[in-house]
Amino acid sequence: MTRASSELDQMGSLRRSHTCGAVSTADVGSEVIVVGWVQRRRDHGGVIFIDLRDHQGLVQVVFRPEESAESHERAGEIRSEYVILARGIVQRRTPDTVNPKMATGEIEVVAQEVRLLNRATPPPFPMEDNPDVDESTRMRYRIHDLRRAPLQRNLRIRHELYQAARRILCGRDFLEIETPMLAKSTPEGARDFLVPSRLQPGEFYALPQSPQLMKQLLMVAGFDRYFQIVRCFRDEDQRADRQLEFTQIDLEMSFVGVEDVLDVLEELTVGVFAEVIGVEIQRPFARISYADAMARFGSDRPDTRIQLELVDLSEAFRESGFRAFRAVVDAGGIVKCLPIHDAQELGRGAVDRLEKFVKKELGAKGLAWIRVGEDGSWQSPIVKFFSDAERAAITQQTDARPGSLLFFQADQADRANGVLSRLRTDLGRQLGRVDDRPWDVLFVVDFPVFQREEDGGLTYVHQPFVAPVEEDIPLLATEPEKVRGTHYDVVVNGVELGSGSLRNHSSDVQRRILEVMGYSKEEAESRFGFLFNALDAGAPPHGGFAFGLDRWVMVLANVDNLRDVIAFPKTQRGQDLLMDAPTVVEPEQLEELQLRLAPPSKRGG
Ligand code: AMO
Ligand code: AMP
Repeated sequence: MTRASSELDQMGSLRRSHTCGAVSTADVGSEVIVVGWVQRRRDHGGVIFIDLRDHQGLVQVVFRPEESAESHERAGEIRSEYVILARGIVQRRTPDTVNPKMATGEIEVVAQEVRLLNRATPPPFPMEDNPDVDESTRMRYRIHDLRRAPLQRNLRIRHELYQAARRILCGRDFLEIETPMLAKSTPEGARDFLVPSRLQPGEFYALPQSPQLMKQLLMVAGFDRYFQIVRCFRDEDQRADRQLEFTQIDLEMSFVGVEDVLDVLEELTVGVFAEVIGVEIQRPFARISYADAMARFGSDRPDTRIQLELVDLSEAFRESGFRAFRAVVDAGGIVKCLPIHDAQELGRGAVDRLEKFVKKELGAKGLAWIRVGEDGSWQSPIVKFFSDAERAAITQQTDARPGSLLFFQADQADRANGVLSRLRTDLGRQLGRVDDRPWDVLFVVDFPVFQREEDGGLTYVHQPFVAPVEEDIPLLATEPEKVRGTHYDVVVNGVELGSGSLRNHSSDVQRRILEVMGYSKEEAESRFGFLFNALDAGAPPHGGFAFGLDRWVMVLANVDNLRDVIAFPKTQRGQDLLMDAPTVVEPEQLEELQLRLAPPSKRGG
């Protein structure tokens, strides 16, 4: 019976016997049935080869006219990404046709029957590991993108992470509880996504930036230990490690101190690394204070494998004749230096490119440098301004010697640190100044509760619910900037995986903290009255943590963009190009919500 070539076949009673990646030399001589998508078809005059792909891998199917004329003819119609079923006998390949790059490269399936289950439009790019294609095409054709092996693998790692986290936390008596998505704003420092209410016209829900307050309420309600794998929403600028919606492994515990939480975090981290990627992480984790991390690495999420450290030279320039530096110190800024020894391979051109880069991309004012020649002489655009004492201080503090290259930033502390920490990681990697530990796992501790804003006011470093270290509570009234918090971060290979703290369980301390941040009594009451009431209802001492799950997958999968670990991510501009969101809505929908759009000019459109 021959079929019209336009007809599709049914699976009938045939069912998959093996996934493509699972066919092996153990099956030689047996019949198998494989199903999947056609990765590639090659017609070698008479013999047709198809690489058939499913979620587990690839297998080669061979169509020879002498084995089955009908299948061979049918295979002639097949194109990339067609969906087929093939039944055939597994054969060992001849030694010269073995493909060592393919897991199933020692065998092939000689087809006796093929069924064309569906056709497919031509794929927009090849389903290879590294297709040469831009990000927006990948996002628009996300289905094809997801068919590729690296993304299949990343989402599998993600799945393993969910399962491992659930298993470990359940083993520690954590209870999984869901919290509302239509909620009230919790200040995590980003802009809220608002959802208009139809039933309460003119009023809005906020999608949660995190379940922070809700999990605290659950502790007051007596659940003792809570966790949730939960979606969070933050309307903030997109970066490689930030998405508008992302997932947390969120947890909270009652009647604990910092060490009790860190103990759970270590157990969870070690367990996940072992279960998901088979890596053994040593306990206890190294700890570094926030102050130390900023001083030595210019970042509160340092990758300490990079063997370059910053040096603070502010004191040396307090009386300097170099006005650009001195003025910065006078204005409360800092002068910091990144010394790189044996830096001969960074020539003048490289330094000029770095200066352009930091000015354009990182907002630096400049990039002063000193190069120490083999004869000990200093070449530098700024050294003519320095006194002997300044030169001596620089030499002594940076350990400058022939071959050294010193980079300087004079600026407000956060910018100077930001620029030099970026140079530290980029140049450290480029020059191979990285120690050979594959995993650098740290707790960053001793964060301050408050920091100064540009306008001089105080704001929180993490969020306003962080409990101060007990003995610092009296400082709230006198020197709030000195108040140390109970906050801690987990940092892996320079990525902030997550953060947490103990919380204020006394409404009095919570009120005083909001007051320091500039909330009037009335404002605090109207925004957080429900929290004060809850704390007053008998809140236990409590604390917790949230891992950024997407970031964790990124680290486990060794990729550097969150978009590669999320099934349907948003672009840099917050768009879903596959389904085309956001979009305009029907006027009737707006009317129902009693909303009216401002004229286009006011919408920046
Ligand atoms: P925090 O705001 O530090 O803490 O968030 C916890 C972790 O979530 C991840 N994360 C993100 N991941 C992707 N895209 C984003 N836009 C994004 N923002 C944050 C990070 C971060 O470390 N309620 C507190 C936790 C607590 O104190 O228990 C909180 O949300 O990995
Ligand atoms: P100028 O005196 O402005 O020509 O600067 C001399 C050198 O100092 C140049 O290499 C500048 O890039 C650098 N420079 C100027 N201001 C700063 C600053 N605030 N921090 C670091 N380098 C700077």
